[in-house]
Amino acid sequence: MKLIPLKAAAAAALLASAGSTFAAPTWITIGDKAHALVAKVAPNARTLASRQVAVNVPVQRGSAELKTASEGVHVVEIDDGMLPTLSLAIHRTQRKCGGFLKHESMAEALAVLHRVESAPEQELAPSYAIDNQTLVSALMPQLQASNILSTITQLSNFQNRRYNSTHGVAASDWLFNQWKALNPGNRRDIQVRQIAHTWLQKSVEFSIIGSGNATETVILGAHLDSIASGGIETARAPGADDDASGVAGLTEVIRVLMANNYQSKRNIRFIAYAAEEVGLWGSQAIVAQQAGRRDRVVGVMQLDMTAFQGDSTDIWIYTDFTNAAQNQFVANLVGAYLPSYSVGYDACGYGCSDHASWHNKGFIASFPFEASDDTYNFQIHTPNDTVATFGGTANHALKFTRLALAWMVELASDATPASAKAAPVAEKVADKATRVAR
Ligand code: BES
Ligand code: ZN
Repeated sequence: MKLIPLKAAAAAALLASAGSTFAAPTWITIGDKAHALVAKVAPNARTLASRQVAVNVPVQRGSAELKTASEGVHVVEIDDGMLPTLSLAIHRTQRKCGGFLKHESMAEALAVLHRVESAPEQELAPSYAIDNQTLVSALMPQLQASNILSTITQLSNFQNRRYNSTHGVAASDWLFNQWKALNPGNRRDIQVRQIAHTWLQKSVEFSIIGSGNATETVILGAHLDSIASGGIETARAPGADDDASGVAGLTEVIRVLMANNYQSKRNIRFIAYAAEEVGLWGSQAIVAQQAGRRDRVVGVMQLDMTAFQGDSTDIWIYTDFTNAAQNQFVANLVGAYLPSYSVGYDACGYGCSDHASWHNKGFIASFPFEASDDTYNFQIHTPNDTVATFGGTANHALKFTRLALAWMVELASDATPASAKAAPVAEKVADKATRVAR
């Protein structure tokens, strides 16, 4: 297909004057793969503008060597009534997809292109020296697969954890209580809170204030919500792998840090994001709030799907929408602390989880993942994303939990400020994109 390179403002003016041919026009941004389906499903839809985004991908699956690939993002004007059909077509033909984001106006959709066009400035890069062997080696063996499995089981026992269902709200409240219970002595440097959003489900955060470098923060995230097709309230969406596994990993890291009375130098935030499955909404809101905070985020890691082993490779490092230098650090941590684990490299092809919300705003993010992009757990987003589907043990998830602990302790124990570079220009305006619910 031919790309139309248009300056966003010029395109908006042009099209506003041309008017719309639709009874109920709406504007979406959509990735290459799904865009290819638009012409088939909705021949009347008009592609208003397209942009190419440069992403790092392995030269071949598994390889650590990267090349720059080009990923297309398109603004499409389409009749609102066609969106369910488009959504269905995307899900029938693609096991997973970037889906599409629906915007409130043409200008807003075009503004998204404008944002992806300007490469985000990178946050401060911290030292990636591996120099906390004594502590990491003492803490790591305390992580227990049985605890991870227990948390996954309890989270998947909720009927679903949808961002707008009563079950999704209950799951958030449950996790909030679990995390509060991990700080029984109410340490004054620790805060456990729920973060309210414009939808029902709240994100949950466990934070530790650093004792040596409290202007810098390290963030380990996972998403709390789950999804499956069907009625919002009643649909069964256990989301055991996607992403109770990640939330359970965070919970186990918190437990071990607390049991050892760990005090960090940098600030630490563990975040279970709400509303990932509908378009990374929770993380986008939290990233937007960062602009109003005084601390600098020096590193982000996302655990989303860690329990299902797709092949003999243990840890897959996804290279797109992530930071190459921190990814190298993550691989080095495996070499130093988990030398029996093999590492592979792959790419999602779009911003497939909450790390992308950070990456897109210039923050350093990594995404270690359970499998390659063709061997991951295909039962996600169905009632079969259960503990049984990944073999009934959290042994694979434990690998990522160990890695996350090593990453967190190595980064958070450092009191040296990250090298002095200019701070990023923080985006003050939250992206109001809404994604059509599946
Ligand atoms: N955990 C998935 C992302 C994923 C799936 C990564 C399979 C790698 C392999 C995540 O929860 C998800 O479903 N993301 C959405 C995209 C988001 C922008 C709504 C997706 O992939 O459709
Ligand atoms: Zn997920």
